[in-house]
Amino acid sequence: MISIIVAMAKNRVIGKNGQLPWELSSDLLRFKQLTMGHTLLMGRRTFESIGQPLPGRRTIVLSRDPEYSAAGCDVSSDIKLGLLLADSATDLFICGGAEIYRQAFSLVERIYLTELEDEIEGDVFFPELSLREFQLIHTEQCKDTINYRFSILQRELSVESNYEEI
Ligand SMILES: NC(=O)c1ccc[n+]([C@@H]2O[C@H](COP(=O)([O-])OP(=O)(O)OC[C@H]3O[C@@H](n4cnc5c(N)ncnc54)[C@H](OP(=O)(O)O)[C@@H]3O)[C@@H](O)[C@H]2O)c1
Repeated sequence: MISIIVAMAKNRVIGKNGQLPWELSSDLLRFKQLTMGHTLLMGRRTFESIGQPLPGRRTIVLSRDPEYSAAGCDVSSDIKLGLLLADSATDLFICGGAEIYRQAFSLVERIYLTELEDEIEGDVFFPELSLREFQLIHTEQCKDTINYRFSILQRELSVESNYEEI
């Protein structure tokens, strides 16, 4: 299973100055629980914002620099090769940033989506993607420093989506 996992503000912001522009401990805990034991694919800037491979998970970092290396991670200079590096025995989570979400979107079967109630200042935005082929299979309202909605969307080609666009 290939999934996107993302947290975005009401105005679609996902990052600011190379970091997450909020602290949501409940959402980070959910990220850890969902991804533990699986494989993460992320862009070089997202990897550098985390600073190290996350324990218990394999990390594939994308960089167009053929010299780039990241201790404890696999590195690929091509997103298709990066996807091929992933072991089909584990789930693959597309962890951003913006262009990686866009480039991998056609292959994604599931989206784990955190939507903050507030608009947040930032400089990286989740791309506008058509979710017509996705069905909402789970949603819950969550309280934290910023309240948010957590949803799971599943690609189902034959079923009309509850989400028109996000
Ligand atoms: N809220 C969330 O859920 C979330 C999730 C992820 C990230 N973020 C935030 O988003 C920001 C980082 O995202 P970003 O969009 O700026 O950068 P990013 O996607 O993490 O990294 C961009 C880099 O990835 C490499 N890359 C992109 N496409 C590639 C391809 N097709 N093949 C090979 N390499 C490729 C390039 O690296 P080189 O420059 O080395 O060639 C590119 O500069 C941070 O603020 C982070 O905290 C938020």
